Order: sequence, then C-alpha cells, then structure tokens
Amino acid sequence: MAQSNGMSDEVYYPSEQILAQANIADYDAIHQSMLRDPAGCWDQIAREEFEWFEPWKTTLDDSNPPFYQWFVGGKVNIVHNALDRHARTWRRNKLALVWEGENYDQRSYSYQQLHREVSRFASVLRAMGVRKGDRVTIYMGRIPELIIAMLACAKIGAVHSVVYGGFSVEALHERIEDSESRVAITSDGAWLRGNVVPLKDIMDEALQRAPTIQTLIVVKRTGQDVHMEPGRDFWYHDLMNLPIADAHIETEVMDAEDPLFLLYTSGTTGKPKAILHTHGGYMVGVATTLKWVFDIKEEDTWWCAADPGWITGHSYIVYAPLLLGTTSVIYEGAPNHPFPDRWWDIVERHGVTVLYTAPTAIRGLMRFGDAWPNRHDLSSLRLLGSVGEPINPEAWRWYHRVIGQGRCPIMDTWWQTETAHFMITPLPVTPLKPGSATKPFPGVQIDIVDEDGSPVGPNEEGYLVIKSPWPGMMRTIYRDAERYVNQYWSRFPGMYMTGDSARRDEDGYIWVIGRVDDVIKVSGYRLGTAEVESALVSHSAVVEAAVIGVPDEVRGNIIRAYCILATGYEPSAHLVEVLRDHVGHEVGPIAKPSSIEFVDSLPKTRSGKIMRRVLKARALGQDEGDLSTLEA
Ligand code: PRX
Repeated sequence: MAQSNGMSDEVYYPSEQILAQANIADYDAIHQSMLRDPAGCWDQIAREEFEWFEPWKTTLDDSNPPFYQWFVGGKVNIVHNALDRHARTWRRNKLALVWEGENYDQRSYSYQQLHREVSRFASVLRAMGVRKGDRVTIYMGRIPELIIAMLACAKIGAVHSVVYGGFSVEALHERIEDSESRVAITSDGAWLRGNVVPLKDIMDEALQRAPTIQTLIVVKRTGQDVHMEPGRDFWYHDLMNLPIADAHIETEVMDAEDPLFLLYTSGTTGKPKAILHTHGGYMVGVATTLKWVFDIKEEDTWWCAADPGWITGHSYIVYAPLLLGTTSVIYEGAPNHPFPDRWWDIVERHGVTVLYTAPTAIRGLMRFGDAWPNRHDLSSLRLLGSVGEPINPEAWRWYHRVIGQGRCPIMDTWWQTETAHFMITPLPVTPLKPGSATKPFPGVQIDIVDEDGSPVGPNEEGYLVIKSPWPGMMRTIYRDAERYVNQYWSRFPGMYMTGDSARRDEDGYIWVIGRVDDVIKVSGYRLGTAEVESALVSHSAVVEAAVIGVPDEVRGNIIRAYCILATGYEPSAHLVEVLRDHVGHEVGPIAKPSSIEFVDSLPKTRSGKIMRRVLKARALGQDEGDLSTLEA
C-alpha cells in the first residue's frame, strides 16, 4: 500500500506476509553489525554456508590496497558448492534449470543431471588440452550448453571469458585476442525473434582476425549449414559421445583468490577491460546477496531474465541460484515473441515466484498495455526485481501494479560488473520509494562526494563511491593492474569510484542518476563511446567520429553519432544506413547509432580531446557550460 511520508514521494511498505517470511528481518541491525566487523561477519557466513577443501587463514587481507584479498589461503571451487555438494544430497532430484527455447523447445536438468553434464564436458575440455588457468572464450545464445560450458571451465580451474551473443565480429575478436584464449566454444546460431543469429559465421570471421584459437567447439542449436574447419572445429555432440566425456572427474582444488572468470566491460576510454573475479569471494558475495535480497527459499522458482553473457547472468542466472540450490527458469528468446505476453505466459506455466529483469524490458512490455499480462495467472509471483539502469517511477508503478498485482515488492538493485553483486538495494523488509535503489546492502559503505571527495549534503548530486572492500569486488583488470588503480582508485584516494552520480535524500535513500563518464547504457547494455567511435572510423567513409547517449523513453538511452566524412564521400541517407550496418557488424546490433549527423568539425579541447558533453548539451538544447578549454 502506498502512503505519503509527508514529502512528495510515495513510500510502499512491506505486507505482513513479506515481513513474516523475510530471511533478514532487521536491516538496521545487520547493517550496523556488518559495518562494525565486516571481516568477522563475512567469515561466519563463508564458514556456515559453503564447503571449503581447506579453511582460510585471513578473511580480509587489506595490507596492499586496492589489491584486497578475501579468504586468503582457503581452498575451494565454486562448482563444488554450486553442483557437487547438491548432487550428494536429496537435492540431486531437484530441478536446477528449466529451459525454454524461443520455439517452445523445453529442457530441464536436475542437480544430478546438470552435475553429470558439466562433469562430462569438463572431461572433454581437459582431453582437448585445457588446463587450470587457461582462458576459454564462450560465445553462445541463451541455451543450457552456455551454462554447462561456463561451469565445466570453472570445474577444471579454467577461466571463462563469455562474450555476449549480441556482440559481433570486432568485439569478439578483441576479447579473444586480449584474453589469449586457445579454446573457444560457440553454437551454429541462436534464435532471436524467429531469425537465426549466425554465431558460427561471426566467430569464423573473428578468428580470421584472432589466430590464437586452436580448438573451436560448436553446439548445434539452429541446424543451418556452417563451415567446420578441419582440425580446428568439433561438434559438441560428437565430443560428448566419445569416451573422453567421462562423468567421473575430480573438481579442481583452487585457491580462494584464483581467477574464476574474465568479463569484458566498457570503461571511460579505449578498449573494453577484462574484469577479473575469483572463486572464493565471488562465491560468498553472489550467493549471500541473492539469498537476502530475494528472500530465496527452497521452494522458489527464480527467473533472472538477463543474458548469461553479462554480469547479471553470470552472478544471478549461473552462480548464485545454483549455489543456493534454487530452481531457475531460463528463456532463450525475445520477450515479445511471438506475442507480447510471452514472458507472462512463462511466469504462469513455470510458476515463477521471483522475477528479475531490467527497466528497459519493463518499459518495452508496458507499451503493449495491461491486457497481455492480465490474461495470465501471475499469482505465483512473490517478489520482483530491477537492474541495469535507474527505473523511472512510472515503469516502477506499472511493474508493481500490473505484474506484481500490488502484492510484490520491487528490489531495485544497483551494482556493476566490477562489484559482482548487489551493492545498493532494498531487502524485502525495506519500505520502497519508486525510482530509488534505497539503501546499501548490509555492510557496504556507500558515500556521495563532491569534486574534492568530501561528502555532499542531502539531495545534492555527487560522485557515488564505495569506501570499504567487499568479498565479490573485482580483483584487477586482467594483465593491467595499473589501469585498475587509475580507473577506480585514483580519483578519490581510498575510495572506489563507481563512475555513477547519485544523490541521497533526507531518509538516507540513494537515487542513482547515471554515468558520469563515457559509458552509455542502451537498453541496460553497457557500451563505451570509444567502441562505437572506433567502429565508425574503421569505415573508409569516416575520418573522425564522436558518439553520445541521448535519453529515450523505452531504451533509457540511444546513441547519436557525429561523423566527419573523408574526401570523396557525400552525406546521404544511404550512407547513414551503411554506417549503422557497419557498426552492427563490428560491435553488434545494440551499438548501432539511432541517428548519424555528418559534421565539418567536432568540439575539442586544446589538447585534442573530443568534448562529448558539449555535443550532448547541444543535442538536448541545454547550456553548453564552461567552454574555456574549447579549441579555438
Ligand atoms: O550506471 C549504473 C547502472 O549500470 C552500471 C553498471 O553496468 P554493468 O556493469 O553492465 O552492470 C549492469 C548490471 C549490474 C552502473 O554503473 N545500473 C545498474 N543497476 C542500476 C543502475 N543504475 C541505476 N539503478 C540500478 N538499479
């Protein structure tokens, strides 16, 4: 029920039922105790909730900031906790994954079956020469084999680097090359809105640019003809039919601080960075946050409708739900295929109890009206979640009223690829304000600071920072520790800079505003201006390009590009299409600019840096601000 708190903003209080079943009943008490003794609290959680091959010696080693380490000396493997231990108990017969293809194919795996498939594929990978510490690139659609491949890598101590299936040739090439993967796993294609995305063809083209790959394993999903390079390419199903696909394989004993995966994400400048996460701290962080924030119970059916190729999928489709022994639903295709009620149909048919998605999806489905969800029985839902960008109150209210039927609190979770897990988020007991991610997760020290690093006052906008280490924090940028320090820890010494701006209201509620750097969130996907610009200038027609994000009602932001043409090229609608397609081919469809303007010059500083904020102010009809550094 909504009530006024005396100010203009509305507050939604949890029902008696939600309060009665909350895993965490008293937010303030637990937050305070975790702030007082973070290492002690995490130590206890890690001991009680997980199995370790050997205990750790130091819970938090903060002797060399910002290179913090957690559970130092502990021996563990996240897959042991996500699968092996469940396959030994009654949970072996519980469903781990319930998968639905876009064409209504259905496949499900019990913990026992998933454990077996992962073990068999782990044996295959080992037989193909993959060793502890090797990087393996995975490029697939949302099919069970993607999850099996990730877990199989982790089981043998290999480091997976998943590239989102919506990325294309150059994005894939760059990530393969940077990770120096020798083995890659893909599928022939992926289904999207009834069409085939030709993943294998894209991979082939990327491999022409990245010769490091010696072995490519291909899952058959769509069945169209693909080229198979003799000696390099192998069908997944062929390998899994060989004796090398042995279900009996020991899970590799890892140090808690050994790398689990790389995940590339866009930063302020230049190439995407490989964010590195580890077995121990990541495991403890993702499972605990899911359990507390979404009140996960044994009987839940959890659906995180993200893509495993992004951090949301890594943490909350793959690892956290399995660590908790939860049943997850995974859906391959588009939310509105074949009709705009596909998602609500899935909720009803599979009895989903907790749904976690992004504001852009909510806004997209909201446009089709209430009749589509209303024709389904959504009474199984208990809690809802949102992630990826600020959720506008209108979308929040629709989600709450129509999907949650006024019954389901919405957990608006703020976090990042770098943080690995929720950092600012309500718990089910938290009174909610639509549009605010509310309070720090217990024990997290959030602040909002000005240019000098001093805390700002209530309702003032400032830089969002994190002031103390947390278990799932990124450990470094792979092979670029210097960039890790510069990018995140140098602007405000001793504080982790998130790259976001935010304000905090009188009640201590945090309102995230958006990125303050050159990252653009398009439909919740994180893209760097640099990636799109370098794709544009890789076309012979363009000598210089600048891109900005401009607000869009459904997608949050859309990309607007400004290009200076090479001599001999004339502006035309046709050239706009050619360039948009070129960006789609190089980076991926999500990176295509919505509009391209041809210009004679770009605003630059005297040192030659493009001033995107000036372009943005112009595009939005706003004051262009201080132009004193602009090139004459
Ligand atoms: O700007 C914030 C926004 O997404 C960024 C992180 O993007 P990525 O690493 O791709 O991870 C997305 C999924 C965790 C943040 O810096 N963001 C994420 N969640 C929220 C959000 N902005 C506002 N509210 C959120 N709940």
